[in-house]
Amino acid sequence: MGVAPPPYRLETERLVVRCWNPGDAPAAKEAIDASLDHLRPWMPWTEGEPTGLDAKVELLRLFRGHFDLGHDFPYGIWSPDESRVLGGSGLHPRVGDGALEIGYWIHVDAIGRGLATEVAGALTRAAFEHARVDRVEIRIDPVNQRSKRVPLALGFVEEATLRRRLPAKTGGEPRDVVVYTMLASELPASPAARVEYRAFDAAGRLLD
Ligand SMILES: CC(C)(COP(=O)(O)OP(=O)(O)OC[C@H]1O[C@@H](n2cnc3c(N)ncnc32)[C@H](O)[C@@H]1OP(=O)(O)O)[C@@H](O)C(=O)NCCC(=O)NCCS
Repeated sequence: MGVAPPPYRLETERLVVRCWNPGDAPAAKEAIDASLDHLRPWMPWTEGEPTGLDAKVELLRLFRGHFDLGHDFPYGIWSPDESRVLGGSGLHPRVGDGALEIGYWIHVDAIGRGLATEVAGALTRAAFEHARVDRVEIRIDPVNQRSKRVPLALGFVEEATLRRRLPAKTGGEPRDVVVYTMLASELPASPAARVEYRAFDAAGRLLD
């Protein structure tokens, strides 16, 4: 069982969260380059960074392709006028049937303002209300205290700690991962349900 397509674009109170395009490469590169020291302890993909603009174009082509084909749903997090990338997020089907995993990072200049919580809340709602999943997961390194606040603030339940299940960094050991989950039946009573968003399809049409 796959998932129904999630929205291409979400507008929240303070953010635009939308499918990446290859033309976003310069803005994405600026955000990643500026945030590398802050991201490195937590995001395994930063091992390959920094990369040049051509590599970013190729990456965003891949992201866009995956999104269009329904294989994976990476989003850019943008300022409301879409002039600045404020982070990256995604709805990832890699956690089994009828479920999506949310990942996120925030530009170092924009942390501590509740933006990760706003994005994760809107994507949680979109996963249930548009992709029609039964479960949303967020997986976090047990020592990533800042990140653990995000699912807890939204009403996710700490379900399990999987041992040595996070990929190792080069030369390192695999790390444990804490799995936070929310079920579709739990959304209405959760703080996530109060995160406002508007959703749009690939043609830019507002979704109900
Ligand atoms: C983790 C991260 C996404 C949080 O982004 P953010 O926009 O600052 O998060 P929010 O502002 O929504 O804050 C989340 C919580 O962290 C709290 N917080 C802020 N700074 C903190 C700190 N230094 N230590 C602990 N908690 C902190 C906030 O008060 C908030 O708590 P609350 O829910 O009780 O209000 C961001 O720091 C980041 O990009 N980190 C690097 C990448 C990463 O770790 N990604 C997640 C991988 S699972």
